[in-house]
Amino acid sequence: MINATSSASDKAVLTLHDVHKSFGEAHIIRGVDLELRQGERHAVIGPNGAGKSTLFHLISGQFRPSSGEIFLHGDPIHGLEARAINRLGMARSFQITNIFPGLSVFENLRFGIMRRHGLEYNFWKRISGAYKVTQETEELLERVRLTRCRDTLGGELSYSEQRSLEIGMSLASDPQVLLLDEPMAGMSREETEYTVGLIRELSQGRSLMLVEHDMEVVFSLSDRISVLVYGKIIATGTPDEIRNNAQVQEAYLGTEVKA
Ligand SMILES: Nc1ncnc2c1ncn2[C@@H]1O[C@H](COP(=O)(O)OP(=O)(O)OP(=O)(O)O)[C@@H](O)[C@H]1O
Ligand SMILES: [Mg+2]
Repeated sequence: MINATSSASDKAVLTLHDVHKSFGEAHIIRGVDLELRQGERHAVIGPNGAGKSTLFHLISGQFRPSSGEIFLHGDPIHGLEARAINRLGMARSFQITNIFPGLSVFENLRFGIMRRHGLEYNFWKRISGAYKVTQETEELLERVRLTRCRDTLGGELSYSEQRSLEIGMSLASDPQVLLLDEPMAGMSREETEYTVGLIRELSQGRSLMLVEHDMEVVFSLSDRISVLVYGKIIATGTPDEIRNNAQVQEAYLGTEVKA
Protein backbone atom coordinates (compact mmCIF):
# COMPACT_ATOMS: atom_id res chain seq x y z
CA MET A 1 0.00 0.00 0.00
CA ILE A 2 1.42 3.36 -1.05
CA ASN A 3 1.46 5.73 1.87
CA ALA A 4 0.35 8.68 -0.22
CA THR A 5 -0.83 11.81 1.50
CA SER A 6 -4.12 13.13 0.22
CA SER A 7 -4.33 16.15 -2.05
CA ALA A 8 -5.78 18.60 0.43
CA SER A 9 -6.38 22.22 -0.56
CA ASP A 10 -7.21 25.26 1.55
CA LYS A 11 -10.78 25.47 0.30
CA ALA A 12 -13.36 24.58 2.94
CA VAL A 13 -16.05 22.06 2.01
CA LEU A 14 -17.60 21.97 5.46
CA THR A 15 -17.61 24.79 7.99
CA LEU A 16 -18.99 24.85 11.52
CA HIS A 17 -19.43 28.21 13.14
CA ASP A 18 -20.08 28.56 16.88
CA VAL A 19 -22.16 25.37 17.03
CA HIS A 20 -23.85 24.51 20.32
CA LYS A 21 -25.97 21.53 21.35
CA SER A 22 -27.75 21.01 24.63
CA PHE A 23 -29.86 18.08 25.76
CA GLY A 24 -32.11 19.61 28.39
CA GLU A 25 -29.75 21.12 30.93
CA ALA A 26 -26.69 19.35 29.57
CA HIS A 27 -24.61 21.62 27.36
CA ILE A 28 -22.72 19.02 25.33
CA ILE A 29 -21.32 20.96 22.33
CA ARG A 30 -20.16 24.34 23.56
CA GLY A 31 -19.24 26.60 20.66
CA VAL A 32 -17.44 24.56 18.00
CA ASP A 33 -15.67 26.20 15.06
CA LEU A 34 -14.35 23.64 12.62
CA GLU A 35 -13.35 23.50 8.98
CA LEU A 36 -12.97 20.47 6.73
CA ARG A 37 -10.91 21.35 3.67
CA GLN A 38 -11.31 20.01 0.17
CA GLY A 39 -9.56 16.65 -0.15
CA GLU A 40 -8.24 16.47 3.40
CA ARG A 41 -8.45 13.68 5.93
CA HIS A 42 -9.30 15.32 9.21
CA ALA A 43 -9.56 13.40 12.49
CA VAL A 44 -11.56 14.55 15.49
CA ILE A 45 -10.13 13.06 18.67
CA GLY A 46 -10.98 13.49 22.32
CA PRO A 47 -11.89 11.61 25.49
CA ASN A 48 -15.01 9.46 25.85
CA GLY A 49 -18.09 11.61 26.17
CA ALA A 50 -16.38 14.71 24.72
CA GLY A 51 -19.16 15.04 22.14
CA LYS A 52 -17.54 13.62 19.00
CA SER A 53 -20.49 11.46 17.92
CA THR A 54 -22.87 14.27 18.84
CA LEU A 55 -20.88 16.59 16.57
CA PHE A 56 -21.21 14.09 13.71
CA HIS A 57 -24.96 13.80 14.39
CA LEU A 58 -25.20 17.59 14.11
CA ILE A 59 -23.22 17.74 10.87
CA SER A 60 -25.15 14.91 9.22
CA GLY A 61 -28.56 16.15 10.34
CA GLN A 62 -29.54 13.47 12.88
CA PHE A 63 -29.58 16.28 15.48
CA ARG A 64 -30.24 19.97 15.06
CA PRO A 65 -27.86 22.43 16.66
CA SER A 66 -29.27 24.45 19.56
CA SER A 67 -27.48 27.39 17.91
CA GLY A 68 -24.74 28.08 15.41
CA GLU A 69 -24.27 27.48 11.71
CA ILE A 70 -23.05 24.62 9.51
CA PHE A 71 -22.21 25.12 5.83
CA LEU A 72 -21.62 22.50 3.13
CA HIS A 73 -19.93 23.98 0.05
CA GLY A 74 -20.93 27.40 1.38
CA ASP A 75 -24.63 26.58 1.74
CA PRO A 76 -26.29 26.38 5.17
CA ILE A 77 -27.30 22.83 6.14
CA HIS A 78 -28.13 23.29 9.85
CA GLY A 79 -31.81 22.49 10.22
CA LEU A 80 -31.99 20.29 7.10
CA GLU A 81 -33.10 16.66 7.39
CA ALA A 82 -30.38 13.99 7.25
CA ARG A 83 -31.71 12.76 3.91
CA ALA A 84 -31.50 16.20 2.35
CA ILE A 85 -27.93 16.62 3.59
CA ASN A 86 -27.06 13.22 2.13
CA ARG A 87 -28.43 14.32 -1.23
CA LEU A 88 -26.16 17.36 -1.09
CA GLY A 89 -23.14 15.07 -1.06
CA MET A 90 -22.47 14.02 2.51
CA ALA A 91 -22.50 10.48 3.86
CA ARG A 92 -21.60 9.00 7.21
CA SER A 93 -21.12 5.73 8.96
CA PHE A 94 -22.14 5.29 12.55
CA GLN A 95 -20.22 4.24 15.63
CA ILE A 96 -22.57 1.27 15.80
CA THR A 97 -22.62 -0.90 12.70
CA ASN A 98 -25.66 -0.02 10.68
CA ILE A 99 -26.34 -2.58 7.96
CA PHE A 100 -29.23 -4.91 7.11
CA PRO A 101 -28.22 -8.21 8.74
CA GLY A 102 -30.88 -10.25 6.91
CA LEU A 103 -29.85 -9.08 3.43
CA SER A 104 -26.83 -10.34 1.52
CA VAL A 105 -23.79 -8.14 1.03
CA PHE A 106 -24.85 -7.57 -2.56
CA GLU A 107 -28.42 -6.66 -1.54
CA ASN A 108 -27.18 -4.27 1.13
CA LEU A 109 -25.02 -2.40 -1.36
CA ARG A 110 -27.70 -2.52 -4.03
CA PHE A 111 -30.09 -0.88 -1.59
CA GLY A 112 -27.58 1.95 -1.11
CA ILE A 113 -27.15 2.39 -4.87
CA MET A 114 -30.92 2.33 -5.44
CA ARG A 115 -31.35 4.98 -2.79
CA ARG A 116 -28.97 7.20 -4.73
CA HIS A 117 -31.06 6.73 -7.85
CA GLY A 118 -34.25 7.33 -5.85
CA LEU A 119 -35.42 3.78 -6.61
CA GLU A 120 -35.74 2.28 -3.15
CA TYR A 121 -39.49 2.81 -2.94
CA ASN A 122 -40.08 1.26 -6.35
CA PHE A 123 -38.16 -1.86 -5.62
CA TRP A 124 -40.35 -4.51 -7.29
CA LYS A 125 -41.33 -2.33 -10.19
CA ARG A 126 -37.87 -1.18 -11.14
CA ILE A 127 -35.46 -3.89 -10.19
CA SER A 128 -35.92 -6.04 -13.25
CA GLY A 129 -34.77 -3.22 -15.49
CA ALA A 130 -32.14 -1.86 -13.17
CA TYR A 131 -29.11 -3.08 -15.06
CA LYS A 132 -27.21 0.07 -14.20
CA VAL A 133 -27.91 -0.46 -10.50
CA THR A 134 -26.58 -4.02 -10.68
CA GLN A 135 -23.47 -2.91 -12.51
CA GLU A 136 -22.74 -0.13 -10.01
CA THR A 137 -23.34 -2.53 -7.14
CA GLU A 138 -20.79 -4.98 -8.58
CA GLU A 139 -18.25 -2.17 -8.91
CA LEU A 140 -18.83 -1.05 -5.33
CA LEU A 141 -18.51 -4.65 -4.10
CA GLU A 142 -15.11 -4.80 -5.67
CA ARG A 143 -14.00 -1.43 -4.36
CA VAL A 144 -14.75 -2.39 -0.76
CA ARG A 145 -13.12 -5.79 -1.45
CA LEU A 146 -16.19 -7.85 -0.59
CA THR A 147 -16.77 -9.64 -3.90
CA ARG A 148 -15.84 -12.96 -2.31
CA CYS A 149 -18.72 -12.68 0.19
CA ARG A 150 -21.24 -11.24 -2.24
CA ASP A 151 -24.03 -13.66 -1.21
CA THR A 152 -23.24 -13.85 2.50
CA LEU A 153 -25.85 -12.31 4.78
CA GLY A 154 -24.76 -9.03 6.36
CA GLY A 155 -25.31 -10.49 9.82
CA GLU A 156 -22.96 -13.41 9.10
CA LEU A 157 -19.94 -11.34 8.10
CA SER A 158 -16.98 -10.95 10.42
CA TYR A 159 -16.90 -7.70 12.34
CA SER A 160 -14.35 -6.04 10.07
CA GLU A 161 -16.23 -7.18 6.96
CA GLN A 162 -19.38 -5.61 8.41
CA ARG A 163 -17.49 -2.34 8.82
CA SER A 164 -16.23 -2.58 5.23
CA LEU A 165 -19.82 -3.15 4.12
CA GLU A 166 -20.94 -0.17 6.11
CA ILE A 167 -18.25 1.99 4.52
CA GLY A 168 -19.50 0.67 1.18
CA MET A 169 -23.05 1.67 2.11
CA SER A 170 -21.91 5.20 2.87
CA LEU A 171 -20.00 5.33 -0.43
CA ALA A 172 -23.05 4.20 -2.39
CA SER A 173 -24.27 7.78 -2.61
CA ASP A 174 -20.85 8.79 -4.02
CA PRO A 175 -20.41 11.51 -1.40
CA GLN A 176 -17.88 14.31 -1.63
CA VAL A 177 -17.77 14.49 2.16
CA LEU A 178 -17.51 11.32 4.19
CA LEU A 179 -17.85 11.13 7.98
CA LEU A 180 -16.65 7.95 9.69
CA ASP A 181 -17.27 7.45 13.41
CA GLU A 182 -14.78 4.97 14.86
CA PRO A 183 -14.52 2.73 11.79
CA MET A 184 -11.79 0.68 13.48
CA ALA A 185 -13.48 0.16 16.87
CA GLY A 186 -13.24 -3.40 18.14
CA MET A 187 -10.85 -4.54 15.41
CA SER A 188 -7.69 -6.59 15.75
CA ARG A 189 -4.41 -5.00 14.64
CA GLU A 190 -4.59 -6.90 11.39
CA GLU A 191 -8.20 -5.88 10.68
CA THR A 192 -7.30 -2.29 11.56
CA GLU A 193 -4.42 -2.24 9.08
CA TYR A 194 -6.68 -3.63 6.40
CA THR A 195 -9.40 -1.06 7.09
CA VAL A 196 -6.92 1.82 7.19
CA GLY A 197 -5.76 0.79 3.71
CA LEU A 198 -9.35 0.66 2.54
CA ILE A 199 -10.16 4.09 3.98
CA ARG A 200 -7.00 5.58 2.49
CA GLU A 201 -7.99 4.30 -0.92
CA LEU A 202 -11.70 5.13 -0.74
CA SER A 203 -11.17 8.64 0.57
CA GLN A 204 -9.09 9.63 -2.47
CA GLY A 205 -10.81 12.53 -4.19
CA ARG A 206 -13.16 13.10 -1.24
CA SER A 207 -12.96 14.98 2.04
CA LEU A 208 -12.95 12.77 5.10
CA MET A 209 -13.77 13.54 8.72
CA LEU A 210 -12.95 10.71 11.04
CA VAL A 211 -13.49 10.01 14.74
CA GLU A 212 -11.04 7.43 16.02
CA HIS A 213 -9.50 6.43 19.34
CA ASP A 214 -6.58 4.49 17.86
CA MET A 215 -3.85 7.15 17.91
CA GLU A 216 -1.54 5.25 15.61
CA VAL A 217 -4.27 5.27 12.97
CA VAL A 218 -5.13 8.92 13.62
CA PHE A 219 -1.55 10.14 13.32
CA SER A 220 -0.75 8.12 10.21
CA LEU A 221 -3.98 8.78 8.31
CA SER A 222 -4.74 12.44 9.04
CA ASP A 223 -3.69 15.61 7.28
CA ARG A 224 -5.05 17.57 10.23
CA ILE A 225 -6.41 16.73 13.65
CA SER A 226 -8.86 18.59 15.89
CA VAL A 227 -9.05 17.87 19.58
CA LEU A 228 -12.47 18.03 21.22
CA VAL A 229 -12.59 18.20 25.00
CA TYR A 230 -15.85 18.76 26.88
CA GLY A 231 -17.63 20.04 23.80
CA LYS A 232 -14.92 22.50 22.74
CA ILE A 233 -12.16 22.26 20.14
CA ILE A 234 -9.00 23.01 22.09
CA ALA A 235 -6.62 22.69 19.12
CA THR A 236 -6.51 22.03 15.37
CA GLY A 237 -3.33 21.31 13.46
CA THR A 238 -1.10 18.88 11.61
CA PRO A 239 -0.23 15.63 13.40
CA ASP A 240 3.12 17.13 14.45
CA GLU A 241 1.53 20.30 15.76
CA ILE A 242 -1.01 18.30 17.77
CA ARG A 243 1.58 15.90 19.13
CA ASN A 244 3.66 18.82 20.37
CA ASN A 245 0.81 20.97 21.67
CA ALA A 246 1.23 21.38 25.42
CA GLN A 247 -2.45 22.00 26.06
CA VAL A 248 -3.40 18.86 24.15
CA GLN A 249 -0.78 16.83 26.00
CA GLU A 250 -2.18 17.98 29.28
CA ALA A 251 -5.86 17.61 28.46
CA TYR A 252 -5.82 14.41 26.54
CA LEU A 253 -2.84 12.95 24.76
CA GLY A 254 -0.32 12.74 27.56
CA THR A 255 -1.08 9.18 28.47
CA GLU A 256 -1.97 8.00 24.97
CA VAL A 257 0.84 9.22 22.72
CA LYS A 258 4.45 9.07 23.62
CA ALA A 259 5.98 10.07 20.32
N1 LIG B 1 -29.59 12.10 22.76
C1 LIG B 1 -28.91 12.45 23.86
N2 LIG B 1 -29.57 12.89 24.97
C2 LIG B 1 -28.89 13.26 26.06
N3 LIG B 1 -27.57 13.22 26.19
C3 LIG B 1 -26.85 12.78 25.15
C4 LIG B 1 -27.48 12.37 23.92
N4 LIG B 1 -26.52 12.00 23.05
C5 LIG B 1 -25.36 12.15 23.70
N5 LIG B 1 -25.54 12.63 24.94
C6 LIG B 1 -24.50 12.93 25.94
O1 LIG B 1 -23.55 13.75 25.29
C7 LIG B 1 -22.24 13.46 25.76
C8 LIG B 1 -21.35 13.25 24.59
O2 LIG B 1 -21.67 12.03 23.96
P1 LIG B 1 -21.01 11.56 22.58
O3 LIG B 1 -21.60 10.23 22.28
O4 LIG B 1 -21.14 12.62 21.59
O5 LIG B 1 -19.50 11.41 23.03
P2 LIG B 1 -18.26 10.83 22.21
O6 LIG B 1 -17.19 11.87 22.22
O7 LIG B 1 -18.71 10.33 20.89
O8 LIG B 1 -17.82 9.62 23.14
P3 LIG B 1 -17.18 8.19 22.75
O9 LIG B 1 -15.71 8.44 22.51
O10 LIG B 1 -17.39 7.37 23.98
O11 LIG B 1 -17.89 7.65 21.55
C9 LIG B 1 -22.38 12.27 26.70
O12 LIG B 1 -22.34 12.75 28.01
C10 LIG B 1 -23.72 11.69 26.34
O13 LIG B 1 -24.31 11.09 27.46
MG1 LIG C 1 -18.77 8.49 19.99
